[in-house]
Amino acid sequence: MSSSTERFARTADLVAARQDSRAPRLAEEVRDFVRPRGDEHCLDVGTGAGALAFALAPLVREVVGLDPVLELLELARARRLANTEFVEGDGTALPFADGTFDLAGTHRTLHHVAQPELVVAELARVTRIGGHVLVVDQLAPVDPAAASALHEFETARDPSHTRLLTDVELRKLFAANELSLVR
Ligand SMILES: C[S@@+](CC[C@H](N)C(=O)[O-])C[C@H]1O[C@@H](n2cnc3c(N)ncnc32)[C@H](O)[C@@H]1O
Repeated sequence: MSSSTERFARTADLVAARQDSRAPRLAEEVRDFVRPRGDEHCLDVGTGAGALAFALAPLVREVVGLDPVLELLELARARRLANTEFVEGDGTALPFADGTFDLAGTHRTLHHVAQPELVVAELARVTRIGGHVLVVDQLAPVDPAAASALHEFETARDPSHTRLLTDVELRKLFAANELSLVR
């Protein structure tokens, strides 16, 4: 287990309680931003207790949530909806074939992964051509001094924090994986 996954195993109940309190707002944001058709097969990487999966579930055909932390997956399964499924796995090496999903997303997870570029590459790989990748995360400030100060603050607050990407870094990752920015 990495320090990130240990931290989430230890605080699983807290993560799930925060998720529950934010759920109505996230559901609204996902509906307005993603605007699904209704027939999509979706993936939520770093699902935790299922935050993005449950926001998507009423709007799409089915959602698979994936996370390495069993304690969180248990809480997700306890909240399970009929069209959701939760599996153990690592976002940097997804156990799915190329082009499996219509929509693959990740919510507030990239900055907890040592190599976020691998997660973006895996999201792109498992999404079918013409499908969509959704990345939701905090952005690093463009100013290097402000980025460094924020990094120190976030790491002190939460040792599972790895790094925030800037808007430019994310755009470069999307381009490197042949993703074009829609919104
Ligand atoms: C801040 S929580 C966010 C959970 C959920 N997406 C949400 O919005 O409530 C970060 C999540 O990233 C997961 N995580 C950490 N490393 C990961 C990895 N290599 N692959 C997939 N998920 C990972 C953690 O287990 C945790 O569930």
